[in-house]
Amino acid sequence: MPEALAAPQVEAEAASNGPVVVFDHVSIQFTRNPVLNDISFTVDRGETLIILGPAGCGKSVLMKLANGLLKPDSGTISLFGQRIDTMSEQDLFKIRARIGMVFQESALFDSLSVEDNVAYRLHEERMAPEEAHKKVVEALHFVALDEAITKFPSELSGGMRRRVSIARAIISGPDLILYDSPTGGLDPITSTTIIELVVKQRDVSHATSLLITHRLQDAFTLATHRYNEQSGRMEPIPDGGVDDTTRFLILNEGKVVFKGTTQELVRTDDPWLKDYIS
Ligand SMILES: Nc1ncnc2c1ncn2[C@@H]1O[C@H](COP(=O)(O)OP(=O)(O)OP(=O)(O)O)[C@@H](O)[C@H]1O
Ligand SMILES: [Mg+2]
Repeated sequence: MPEALAAPQVEAEAASNGPVVVFDHVSIQFTRNPVLNDISFTVDRGETLIILGPAGCGKSVLMKLANGLLKPDSGTISLFGQRIDTMSEQDLFKIRARIGMVFQESALFDSLSVEDNVAYRLHEERMAPEEAHKKVVEALHFVALDEAITKFPSELSGGMRRRVSIARAIISGPDLILYDSPTGGLDPITSTTIIELVVKQRDVSHATSLLITHRLQDAFTLATHRYNEQSGRMEPIPDGGVDDTTRFLILNEGKVVFKGTTQELVRTDDPWLKDYIS
């Protein structure tokens, strides 16, 4: 086979087998102090990486870097085996079609109905209206909001808006989901129902995800529960077990202070981490 033909195949192979997300020595600063300083981590296919850290430590900046909305000052970022930090907007557009985003504040379009909000990407892709409608119905059913389809965002509670935002993120079966504080500003009970949806999405679709949260409780619920398709509910993993597709990344003052599994986190000797997770 001519070499010119072999190379793209090798690349495609690497893209399908390698990690979905790679941050390699990534730094970014806006003013004097770096917001993220030499951050490296990978997320493998089917894995959920929970990102924790104090307010203002750069979690949302990290998410925007992962989506190509911001460019690092140094270091490289790859998604699906392709460098995105040097990618053209046109190619980024194609990559973003494979990503579902749940923004920190739901970010729904107030002037659009729930149906049009959820179908936004499908409309952009010029999908036939009947087909798009069918997908919206399915996505709203997944988040248990079937009846909200004709409503407007202003008619919904905070928890319902967050559900709509999740339906919008998952509608086209993304290969990667980025959740930025999906429970931010919600009461504990509503937060748990949102985390239940994230667990369901993780265990039903096996999508790769990055999830930012301020709530340690959410992080541990994710790590210790699994979705039971029979009961349609999230249930604790028996015998104190943990989900082995869920890992943690903890940031503080621009640095990674922890990267590892749930067991490694709860057994940490680091005084700052012990205090943070207690
Ligand atoms: N576009 C920007 N220009 C200048 N500074 C920015 C920009 N975006 C973020 N920052 C700064 O970077 C730091 C990290 O912000 P970021 O939004 O990532 O924090 P966060 O960890 O998501 O916080 P929170 O938990 O409150 O959501 C903050 O000091 C913020 O002011
Ligand atoms: Mg944030």
